[in-house]
Amino acid sequence: MKRLLAIWCLLALTAFPCPAAQAQQQLPTLGVCIYNYEDTFITSLLEVIRREAEQVATLITYDGHNNQNLQNDQVEELLKSGVDALIVNPVDRTAAIYLIQMAMRYQKPIVFINREPLREDLALYHLAYYVGIDPKEQGLLSGKLAAHYFRTHPKADRNGDGVMQLVLLKGEPGHQDAELRTQYAMKALQQEGLRTEKLDEAAALWERSLGQEKMASFLNTSGERIECVISNNDDMALGAIDALKAAGYFSGDKYMPVIGIDATAPAREALAQGSLYATVFNDALGQGNAAVALAILLARGEAVVPETFPYDIQDKVVYIQSTSMISDRVP
Ligand code: BGC
Repeated sequence: MKRLLAIWCLLALTAFPCPAAQAQQQLPTLGVCIYNYEDTFITSLLEVIRREAEQVATLITYDGHNNQNLQNDQVEELLKSGVDALIVNPVDRTAAIYLIQMAMRYQKPIVFINREPLREDLALYHLAYYVGIDPKEQGLLSGKLAAHYFRTHPKADRNGDGVMQLVLLKGEPGHQDAELRTQYAMKALQQEGLRTEKLDEAAALWERSLGQEKMASFLNTSGERIECVISNNDDMALGAIDALKAAGYFSGDKYMPVIGIDATAPAREALAQGSLYATVFNDALGQGNAAVALAILLARGEAVVPETFPYDIQDKVVYIQSTSMISDRVP
């Protein structure tokens, strides 16, 4: 009798696996392709994706080492291996079309993050989406922060000419965030009624060391004439602060308003110390959560509707809102 019972139990277990084992088997596999693991903001975004996916998906992640050809191969390999959906941070946003076509061939969903594909490319495939931020909104916010500093600190107009002399550190040319943040920061200053003179602008490719290099060269050329530094991201802003510190700023009463974007951990420290005047919060948590939720819904073949995905979607693009942060240690 005992033996019969044991056999029955074994049969029952094979026929009806326990719920935990079943759930484990059904976890979708997500392939995550990152343009470059060395990027500070992207590192925090990837951390969120990993954390968010922990209980709900199996992740395979790849570093594209800033090389689009390598990333194309990685995406193809993931599709061949049978992943259920892809989350891709493309190296070159204009190459997204190839990745979309590849995903289409395998009929797998593809959710882009951080580097926005062209709208016409996204429109080619019903399972292609983008999750990011609105760079125009962030640009406007950074310009408004610069204007706010000038309004609240009359001495900021050092030469008293009624014009804000500024320098601008730009991210990677062609990246929508670099182009539109730059354009809309200048637009906001104009909208705020401030007269500006851009003394210099340089692409520092999102990197702190290049931000430092470019700022050192701005200081060489324009020195004391510079009244404000606007940067497309925090890493470059922190690089500018490194160069400014080397030139004697942020000690005694020598100050320079520097404005970044992202609110990364090191930037928050600089805000707390008062060397970074302000930044625009680029919500990695919001973007990571939305990207994973969307990829999983699509992987399961479920409908993307407000009940299943409570985010605003326009033309298959999800923008997570941004906000401003100002240091409370401004002299
Ligand atoms: C971030 C930058 C980052 C870039 C990478 C931007 O949205 O603000 O810090 O380097 O994305 O693509």
